[in-house]
Amino acid sequence: MCEKIAAGILGTGSYLPEKILTNFDLEKMVDTSDEWITTRTGIKERRIVDPSQATSDLATEASKRALEDANLKPEDLDMIIVATVTPDMNFPSTACIVQANLGALNAAAFDISVGCSGFIYGLAIAQQFVETGMYRNVLVIGAETLSKIINWKDRNTCVLFGDGAGAAVVGRVESGYGILGSYLGADGTGGKYLYMPAGGSRMPASHETVEKNLHTIFMEGQEVFKFAVKVMDSATIEVLERCGLTPEDIDMLIPHQANTRIIEAARKRLKLTNDKVYINLDKYGNTSAASVAIALDEAYRKGLIKKGDIILTVAFGAGLTWASSVIKWSK
Ligand code: ACO
Repeated sequence: MCEKIAAGILGTGSYLPEKILTNFDLEKMVDTSDEWITTRTGIKERRIVDPSQATSDLATEASKRALEDANLKPEDLDMIIVATVTPDMNFPSTACIVQANLGALNAAAFDISVGCSGFIYGLAIAQQFVETGMYRNVLVIGAETLSKIINWKDRNTCVLFGDGAGAAVVGRVESGYGILGSYLGADGTGGKYLYMPAGGSRMPASHETVEKNLHTIFMEGQEVFKFAVKVMDSATIEVLERCGLTPEDIDMLIPHQANTRIIEAARKRLKLTNDKVYINLDKYGNTSAASVAIALDEAYRKGLIKKGDIILTVAFGAGLTWASSVIKWSK
């Protein structure tokens, strides 16, 4: 009898633009304060891309690092998935642009639009292709240049977001290791709480849409906050149950980096000590689909994750969507 193929993470990488925008810089741009941003969100600074850089540029750098870590060449890739809400353009997909940049010409390539839950959705998609034996190596990328769709006059949103990219190569790992389970969900009735109104077929670009700043993020912060606290709770418990695990089994929680108050609520609910929760939103803000990918790469490179550890990832985002996964680290 054939043994089931296990799918896990072979390598990770991330890339953050050099330019730092601090809360004190924002104080000069809108009516806000370092004190307000720090106490309400935990964010101290974020990274901002150079105007010449697009999402695919960040994604390509993060991917090169993930490939190096996995000891693979671009031509070893069978598929590239880019999770983003800030693609280079509507089409072709950012994944196709990354494929060309890397020279990964054996890989199928496509984007997914799942807001901040995108990287975990991508991991679950990759897992299916690897476990069925259809593909060996799938590159999953979360990459965003949110600074390009921020209304820099709206203090409700402009203080929250940052730019960056993270990547992971999903492939075959030792039996019993790898992605043990995932839980993906969506509630489209909440789409109105977090969206970009213009630029699609509903409201194509026009002078009016540009004048009214409709190509930027609109968010009902409190609605998203309530939703986030609820789903961070249900999504973590559900995926642990699916894997036959309990919160005591978790060695490291890698949550979506949106707000320390949201993460703190999840930490308390799961009764985890601070050292079992990875937080970097103070440095990068909310990088949407890139956030979990960057945090996972940082935690691993800092030596905070070792072989056999149980990693719980969880995110929520535009859609509204949520996603969680349990990974038994195999490196
Ligand atoms: N500086 C100073 N004051 C501000 C700022 C600011 N940057 N932003 C809002 N305020 C004011 C508001 O105007 C309001 O003033 P008022 O009472 O006079 O009306 C007051 O602060 C309180 O505003 P609230 O919205 O009630 O503040 P809250 O405590 O809810 O925090 C926040 C706002 C941080 C946005 C919070 O709701 C949150 O984190 N929500 C979740 C957002 C999120 O995670 N979004 C990303 C989703 S993922 C994706 O896919 C992109």
